[in-house]
Amino acid sequence: RSASWEARADLVVVGTGVAGLTAALTAHELGLRVLVITKASAEDGNTRWAQGGVAVVLPGQHDAGDSVDSHVADTLTAGAGLCDEVAAAAIIKDGPAAVDRLMRLGATFDLGRDGDKLARTREGGHSAFRVVHAGGDATGAEVERALLASVRDGRVPLLHNHIAVEALHTPAGQVAGLHVLDGAGVPGVLRAPAVLLATGGLGQLFQATSNPEVATADGLALALRAGAAVSDVEFVQFHPTVLFTGAGARGRCPLVTEAVRGEGAVLVDAFGARVMTGVHPLGDLAPRDVVAAAITRRMAETGTDHVYLDATHLGGEAFRRRFPTVHAACLAEGIDPARDGIPVAPAAHFACGGVMSTVDGRTSLTGLYAAGEVARTGLHGANRLASNSLLEGLVVGARAARAVAFDLGAGLLGDPRLVEVGDLPAARVADRMPLQDAMSRYAGIGRDEAGIAKALCVLESAVHRPLKTHRAVEDAALALAARALLTAAAARTESRGCHVRLDHPDRDDARWSRSLPLRLDVSGQ
Ligand code: SIN
Repeated sequence: RSASWEARADLVVVGTGVAGLTAALTAHELGLRVLVITKASAEDGNTRWAQGGVAVVLPGQHDAGDSVDSHVADTLTAGAGLCDEVAAAAIIKDGPAAVDRLMRLGATFDLGRDGDKLARTREGGHSAFRVVHAGGDATGAEVERALLASVRDGRVPLLHNHIAVEALHTPAGQVAGLHVLDGAGVPGVLRAPAVLLATGGLGQLFQATSNPEVATADGLALALRAGAAVSDVEFVQFHPTVLFTGAGARGRCPLVTEAVRGEGAVLVDAFGARVMTGVHPLGDLAPRDVVAAAITRRMAETGTDHVYLDATHLGGEAFRRRFPTVHAACLAEGIDPARDGIPVAPAAHFACGGVMSTVDGRTSLTGLYAAGEVARTGLHGANRLASNSLLEGLVVGARAARAVAFDLGAGLLGDPRLVEVGDLPAARVADRMPLQDAMSRYAGIGRDEAGIAKALCVLESAVHRPLKTHRAVEDAALALAARALLTAAAARTESRGCHVRLDHPDRDDARWSRSLPLRLDVSGQ
């Protein structure tokens, strides 16, 4: 059966993180019939795990000398020459209004000592204290809570346990619907002139990640198969400090927010020597790619698999109050941050590239929109600035909804009644564990031509399967995303941002100071 059930909407939103929920709410307010789907429960995405906060320069609430322009400048510096300046400025300038809207929806941010201004912290790459946070280190959970409550209050229909398999096209080639599997694996069709991908990232491509289980590159793979332009996928950001819980840890590892370093903690190696001394003028608060690479080098030099974050200066009670999530994760491992160094190591965290989209979420395909981590707007370049991702989800999610309303009103979108529904597609599916192992070994921090070739060999064992189960859809997405990442990583023969080539250690501005459109044959993938 190619489709046993059908539903219709003006806009189908895929994903229930910050970008998807913001888009759904905005579109609903604009009078569109919106349908939201998520492949698991609504809270299962990456957003609720975000700790540090939202980077934003709010009127009357910033350091002397800080400004929206300096937030843009820090973003461009962290992005290592690959940000789209116009896009970055547009998104960051929209930040204050987006955070204000979120607070009006009921999100509560922590207050500073004076009690009338928001508390602000610093993270890697920021030249000022401009990261607002909630629940100490539980910002994403508060953002998700507030958005989800508003979506539910607004009675926006939301289907749990529904996974998108492929985009459906009209005979003229516009995207106007999705092939979907419901929770029982029954195929169905969602017909809509606009489909927004807000599916998040791909951390599960690697053995250890800060991302939850659902981060399996589904939207990236769906967009690639649909023929959308994709770029910058070689730039996978590794968070410098996830809690090290032992060699061979697999899956989601607890994050230790950069804000801990923002509050003065320092990285030391197994012998007590500072890791970041002499590496970068911002020391322990250097941009994330620099810190993650420095830790990786130090681990190799000292023959260890982790370093330590020394936050003992904060004292037990202050640490527990400011970082309750990290504190609980440490205690669960028998670590007392008031006394012990916190064992940490880098782990896969964020896809800086993705589906090429404008700051209004428009992709290269009519009817297909993208927002949040799955999208490549040009904000992040080769390395995302800390806490710019919740910001991007809030801003681009809302802008994408407005773009859909505009495009629909202007008659620019396809007619979903015309979409052609065939059988469920088949694609190459790889075993997840060997793929994760190969990606971690050959495509993490430190890649070279021979290693990339070895990882591509692992993909050769992928076999064709019909995408009839949620697991098959995810495994096929991971295999295609791995191919895309490895292809892009092979092509970029330089080191820049989070893409570190051991055989091309220098940044090569003359040849590579641009994003490369991905060239990948996706037939049969
Ligand atoms: C963190 O809190 O360190 C993560 C924040 C982010 O990824 O932007």
